[in-house]
Amino acid sequence: MNNFEFKNPTKIIFGKNTIEKLENEIPKDAKVLLLYGGGSIKKNGIYDQVKTALAKVDVLEFGGIPANPEYAVLLEALKIIKDENITYLLAVGGGSVIDGTKFLASAALFEGDRPWDILSKNIRTEEGMPFGTVLTLPATGSEMNSGSVITRAETKEKLAMGGPGLFPEFSILDPQVIVSIPQRQLANGLTDAFTHVLEQYMTYPIGALLQDRFAESILQTLIEVAPKVLKDPTDYKAASNFMWSCTMALNGLIQKGVPTDWAVHAIGHELTALFGIDHARTLAIIAPSHYKFNFETKKEKLAQYAERVWNITEGSIEDKANAAIEKTEAFFHQLGINTKLSDYTKDYEGTAENISERFTTRGWVALGEHKSLSPDKVESIVKMAY
Ligand code: NZQ
Ligand code: ZN
Repeated sequence: MNNFEFKNPTKIIFGKNTIEKLENEIPKDAKVLLLYGGGSIKKNGIYDQVKTALAKVDVLEFGGIPANPEYAVLLEALKIIKDENITYLLAVGGGSVIDGTKFLASAALFEGDRPWDILSKNIRTEEGMPFGTVLTLPATGSEMNSGSVITRAETKEKLAMGGPGLFPEFSILDPQVIVSIPQRQLANGLTDAFTHVLEQYMTYPIGALLQDRFAESILQTLIEVAPKVLKDPTDYKAASNFMWSCTMALNGLIQKGVPTDWAVHAIGHELTALFGIDHARTLAIIAPSHYKFNFETKKEKLAQYAERVWNITEGSIEDKANAAIEKTEAFFHQLGINTKLSDYTKDYEGTAENISERFTTRGWVALGEHKSLSPDKVESIVKMAY
């Protein structure tokens, strides 16, 4: 096992009717900016619950953060934060609203002139404006990690940022929120969380027995609850296990002491930036090709995953590893998620070369757990995913 340090300061408040506990978490003298997305919270009652809990707090609001949080929109919120001397941020939404809020938490205290530098120059956020979240969509794990991904439509870029200053102070996870989530977003959430585990697991064995079993148990739980969540989002047992699995998939725990990959995300983010494809779907497009292309270096973990998660016990390591890739793709299909780029766009020609060029320009020339995934290999993987 590799050496590691682990600190996750986010307080999780989990369970039925927990949104009312907001009242206890926000400092009494805070001036709060409540941030939300396109308005789903106004239809499903979450907004009312939040406002009731905040009755005694000084609150302004900023709505309209789109899926794939857009830089230009966030700059409008940043102006309000500065003009109104906001001291505390509250994100009520899914990964996009939470990530947008993280950007704002960082930008609010950023001393440079161009907040985009935080993303383009990869500036780590050591300290941000304090913020909390009310999660409305289980998927990204953003509610308990310090990462954020921001989109800039003007340049068709989608870049990540982060740092120890960007953990939420608290996150409220009431699994009942999933009843209003459209099927498409439920399937996205399951796929995103599943792939988060794969990115931190599908590398090479390093003797981290516990981390491997943590990862496998999250995958098994997601596979078990997926059909139940899709069939009946009011099934609380399924909803609560779905929600906690998504959080645990990317709160840092399973990646400690093990090699990680994250190339599927790096490539997938480009497909969202270029074509607007939902984040989770880009992962389902890239993951199967990525595992086929890197078969030799990943086959031992692929075979372990085949045995322990999919109960494939027959055949050689190669047979099991191949079967595991097929099972993974079939799982995405079962969720209603297509796994080829051509299923989403007719204009896919040239995408592989474009992404490879972008990675070269950014100096992303050595991705993956062995730092050996060069842009030409990325190009081959994307072509395989057409
Ligand atoms: O905007 P509203 O009206 O709220 O509607 C949203 C949005 O249209 C809707 N929704 C959310 N909760 C709902 C609901 N509809 C009905 N009922 C509810 N309870 O769902 C749509 C999608 O929301 P979004 O927040 O975009 O989805 P998700 O949570 O999947 O977040 C995706 C974003 O997170 C980033 C992705 O790149 C993408 O930008 N990621 C963030 C990560 C992180 N910070 O750790 C890691 C991930 O890998 C990912 O990159
Ligand atoms: Zn993801």
